[in-house]
This record gives sequence, structure tokens and C-alpha cells, in this order.
Amino acid sequence: MESILFKEFKLKNGTKIKNRFFKGAMSEALANKYHQPTEAIYHLYEKWALGGTGIVVTGNVMVDKRALGESRNVVVEDESMLPFLEKWAERGTINDTHLWMQLNHPGKQAPKGIVKETVAPSAIPLHESISKFFPHPRELTSSEVSDLIRRFGNSAKIAKKAGFTGVQIHGAHGYLISQFLSPRHNQRKDEWGGDIDGRMKFLIEVYREIRNQTGSFPISVKMNSADFMKAGFTEEEAMYVAGQLEKEGVDLLEISGGSYENPQMTGRNVKASTKQREAYFLEFAERLRQTVHIPLSVTGGFRSKNGMENAIHANATDFIGIARPLAVYPDLPNLIAQNSIQEVVLSEKKVGVNIIDNKMPFEVLWYSQQMERLGKGKKVKPNHPVWISLLQAVLKNGKEAIQLQRAK
Ligand SMILES: Cc1cc2nc3c(=O)[nH]c(=O)nc-3n(C[C@H](O)[C@H](O)[C@H](O)COP(=O)(O)O)c2cc1C
Repeated sequence: MESILFKEFKLKNGTKIKNRFFKGAMSEALANKYHQPTEAIYHLYEKWALGGTGIVVTGNVMVDKRALGESRNVVVEDESMLPFLEKWAERGTINDTHLWMQLNHPGKQAPKGIVKETVAPSAIPLHESISKFFPHPRELTSSEVSDLIRRFGNSAKIAKKAGFTGVQIHGAHGYLISQFLSPRHNQRKDEWGGDIDGRMKFLIEVYREIRNQTGSFPISVKMNSADFMKAGFTEEEAMYVAGQLEKEGVDLLEISGGSYENPQMTGRNVKASTKQREAYFLEFAERLRQTVHIPLSVTGGFRSKNGMENAIHANATDFIGIARPLAVYPDLPNLIAQNSIQEVVLSEKKVGVNIIDNKMPFEVLWYSQQMERLGKGKKVKPNHPVWISLLQAVLKNGKEAIQLQRAK
């Protein structure tokens, strides 16, 4: 009998997705210095498309060049980017693959040295353990908030025109939208703050603007099940926001969790009992399903064919969100279909010296290097030692490489 993982899925607007594999966004940071996509990006996405994934979400694309998460992010502000995006969309949609552009604004999670200043709902710095790596944020004015909403809509319109088949709003991991949702980071007294209805207004308005600009087009939101921070965004609030997004007509929700302050999205600090279920946010998804009926992708921790199938059979999710395994096995869905792989085993990315490993997660650095290899047509190196990867990064980028590693 064919595995449920290869069963087609139809979104509410009739869009057909060929299977249940959903590539979670991984920032490629492979743009050129003008923030345009490059041949390495086209090649990387062609590999993923050929590898059999149903929906491929791009790494985060920024809506404002003054607000970058990394120096080599793609930025989409106007139609001058169209020729580059058209090539990306063409290569990334072969093999009946859906290619959705993830749109993001980092808010206060933009490191020093990359941006001149950071903006946020309120002028509140990140947790003291990491705040020294980021400029102290400035509170957004209400006209700036309106401008950002317009920017999200404009970038989505350009993505659609270029041939991307959907977009995703990055509302998770402590970036700007997630900062608006959090009572810890949003202490505004105007219409954009206060209770959860006020705090989610920015997300809702971004969604409505994108819908206005794109019409019938798959729009996904990636959101946290919780921030896992004191006085942060809670699971109850996440359930409520998801319910409102359903009423608004969002086509698919991707569930994750955490932020730079507590990076649970990559499994760090996740309880051992939770990890036993393989995927970190499955229990939340099961609770959410009782009241909210938007198609779901749960991302974080999926490694085995069995674990993936069980999650869909248990009706905890419709799609299997996968990120890091696809940086090592870009053709994972094909390998699963051919029965050539049952489980992906990935070691934690540590150099082996506690004092360094406790301070810095090397996941992003190590996986980014593998994506760069793929983009340049080289083979991945699944056993590449983390300390060599660190050394290479330092030789290439100097001290920037050992500043806080982005945890997404
Ligand atoms: C190198 C790297 C870059 C990432 N970039 C993004 C990003 O741009 N946007 C995003 O929503 N998540 C990003 N993530 C998080 C992943 O989408 C995913 O939530 C996380 O890795 C857990 O899934 P996994 O266990 O399948 O890797 C990134 C993760 C890694 C390792």
C-alpha cells in the first residue's frame, strides 16, 4: 500500500499539492551584495524540486533592505528584482513542486554590524544573555507600521508575478510579527498593542494586505506554538490567533516555536519527553486540531518515515515540515519513496567544548555551509566536523562568524 506521505492534498482554493512533504524555510544567505538571488540559489532550489518535496518554502526574504537578518539575505522591494525572481521560480517549480516565498522582517533580531538600527513594537531589548549582539531597538511609529504592512503586500505581489506559487508570512521565531504578538516585547498603548486582539492586529493586517494584492493565492503563516519565555506569547494565545487566522481565510499554518531568546525550534531546550514523539510541537498541534481546521504543517524534529506517517495517521498534521534533513538529503522524499532510507540520523552540531557549545548553537552555520555546497553543485558532507566548519567560517568572515549564530 502506498504510504500516506505520498497522498495528494487539496488546499481550500483547489490548489493540489502532490504529497505531504513540506520543506521548512532555511535562510540560504546566498544572495549577492545587491540582495539579488544568485545561480547558487537557483541550483539549490532545483535540487530540492527534483528531490520530490511537495511544497518548498524559501529561506526568509526580507521586505525592507534596512532590516536584514544576515548580510546576504534576498530583499524584495520593487520590480527591479523580477528577472532574478523569475529564474528562481522557474527552477524551483519544476517537477510539479510548489515554491512559496517566506516573507520576513527581523524587527529587533537583526545583529549589530549588519543594520544601522533596529525597530520593534516597543523599545525593549532582547534578553540580557544575548542583547549585546543587537542594537537597542527603537519603537516603530504608527506610520512606519502602516508602511511595513504595505511592504509585505508589495513583496507578495511581486513574488506572485515572478511565478512563485504561494507565500508564507514569517510570524514565528521572535522576528517582528512574533514581537508584536508577545506581551513581553509589545507594550504599546495604541491599537497595535494591549490584549491579544491588539497584539495580533499587525499579523492580521499583513495577511489582509497580501490577500488584497494577490487574490486567490496560497498564503501560509508560520507561527509559534509559544515563545517559551516568561511573560511571552502562550499556547492559549497561539490557539486563539490560529482560530482568527482560520476565519480570515489563511490557507495553511506552519507550527514551530521559540526565538533567539529560547531557540526551541531546533530542539535546543526541548524536554526529553517531547523529543520522544520525534516532532517537538505535535502535542500542541493535536490540541489545536480540536478547534481549528486550517491545513497544518508541523515543523521541527521529524526524522523517520514511521514518525512522519504516524503523525498524519493520528491526524495531528496534514504536512510534514522538514528543514535540516533536507540540507543533507535534498532528495529525501524520493529516497523514502524508493525505500532507500527509513530514518535520517543527524548529530547535534557541537564542537565538543562545553563552554563554547553552551553559548553558541552551530546548527545554522553548519547547515548553511551544506546548502552553499549544494548550491555550488558540490556534494554535501554529512560527517563534516563542526570545528572545521567553524574554522572555515572564521577564515572566510572573520569575527562576524563567531558572533551570535542565528537560531531562526
Ligand atoms: C540553517 C537554518 C536556517 C533557517 N532559516 C529559517 C528561516 O529563514 N525561516 C524560518 O521560518 N525558519 C528557519 N529555520 C528553522 C527551520 O525552518 C525549522 O523550523 C527548524 O530547523 C526545525 O526543523 P528541523 O528539525 O526539520 O530542522 C532555519 C533553520 C536552519 C537550520
